[in-house]
Amino acid sequence: MSFDLSVFSNKNIILAVTGGIAAYKSAILVRRLKDYGFNVRVVMTKGAQAFITPLTFQALSGNPVHTELLDPEAEAGMGHIELARWADLVLVAPASCDTIAKFAAGLADDLLSTLYLATKAPVWVAPAMNQQMWAAKATQRNLNTLVEDGVHVIMPEAGSQACGDVGLGRMPEPEVLAEQVKDYFHQAQRAIAEKFGLLAGKRVTITAGPTREAIDPVRYISNHSTGKMGFAIAAACYSAGAKVTLLAGPVSLDTPNGVKRINVSSALKMLDESMNQLEEGCDIFIATAAVADYRVAEVAEHKIKKSGDELNVSLIKNPDIVATIAQQEKRPFMVGFAAETRNVEEYAAGKLVAKKLDMIACNDVSRADIGFASDQNAMIVFFAEQYQMEKRDLEKASKQEIAQQLVEAIHDALHHEIEPV
Ligand code: C5P
Repeated sequence: MSFDLSVFSNKNIILAVTGGIAAYKSAILVRRLKDYGFNVRVVMTKGAQAFITPLTFQALSGNPVHTELLDPEAEAGMGHIELARWADLVLVAPASCDTIAKFAAGLADDLLSTLYLATKAPVWVAPAMNQQMWAAKATQRNLNTLVEDGVHVIMPEAGSQACGDVGLGRMPEPEVLAEQVKDYFHQAQRAIAEKFGLLAGKRVTITAGPTREAIDPVRYISNHSTGKMGFAIAAACYSAGAKVTLLAGPVSLDTPNGVKRINVSSALKMLDESMNQLEEGCDIFIATAAVADYRVAEVAEHKIKKSGDELNVSLIKNPDIVATIAQQEKRPFMVGFAAETRNVEEYAAGKLVAKKLDMIACNDVSRADIGFASDQNAMIVFFAEQYQMEKRDLEKASKQEIAQQLVEAIHDALHHEIEPV
């Protein structure tokens, strides 16, 4: 699974580190949270500073570390109330017995305990301690209080401990904690997108990448399509709240988060899967695939041997997937693509009509700076006549940004009153 780093760049995590040997894992945790794109600020208790220095966390988080409650200089920077408001999540890892007890009692005698009372953000604690301390009645009583107060407790793991004991009390690995944080925000974003996103509740099928047409068991005909544009559109549709199925030709790209991917090879297989999607229910069909126009008439059963100076392979036309789907009775909103090297607009407008599409996005692949393998693209979008919508120029931008603008164009067309023609 790939992850778009920009996804969480507007989310703020306070990582509170308290006194315990597991504090060394928190350094890695900062890295993993940053890897997901989160903004991280670290708060340390006195106890934590006996195990690891603030400088380590400052370097890793890229932010000053907060250690004092009543330090005028620190309060002048980002005071405790401001810090409490800044946080979208407070993660206390490791959470010592002492901190858990303070939270349960509502004490406010240091920065972290004050922050706990002052924040509206969800608070998660990852207790880490000696197994006997974990099992102690007071600790369990305090943890129950925290759960009742709405705190999310991440259960410690069992195993050998730094003190030599074996039992419950080890903090989960930083990767596991970071992933839980990512999943939490991802689910929250998804819930919002499914309700309010531009494509909320829509079922979208996207074809992407090249197709591969076999000549014999070891050889094939294909093209240079990388699938990047289709994958970016799949990610953008998902972020807009759609349920997305990606029919991917052979490409080496990670599946966008949340997207269902079905790998296909030939044009015929891609068509088969497209028809299946139609059966299952599809509201929007987006054809970005560079489908091979022809396939080999008769695929050799065995590897063709070198002989003679010439080899003739006879080709027959592949079905046009997007045009076939557009002809079906229960046809979804149809989006096609056109890659041209000349007369770009004229050819694209022609395909819009010929293939009975609702919308077509075209680009000039003769431009060296955009298209195929590039990370950037520029497009012109045309809508079918009945929409009576102006064409849109999508200026050169990253494929992610272009994908977002295409989602907006689809949304606008879907909500446009159609004029009878
Ligand atoms: O005719 P041309 O290949 O330029 O049309 C491009 C559009 O048609 C793209 O949306 C492409 O995915 C789709 N197409 C298709 N099946 C084919 C050929 C093209 O779906 N066999």
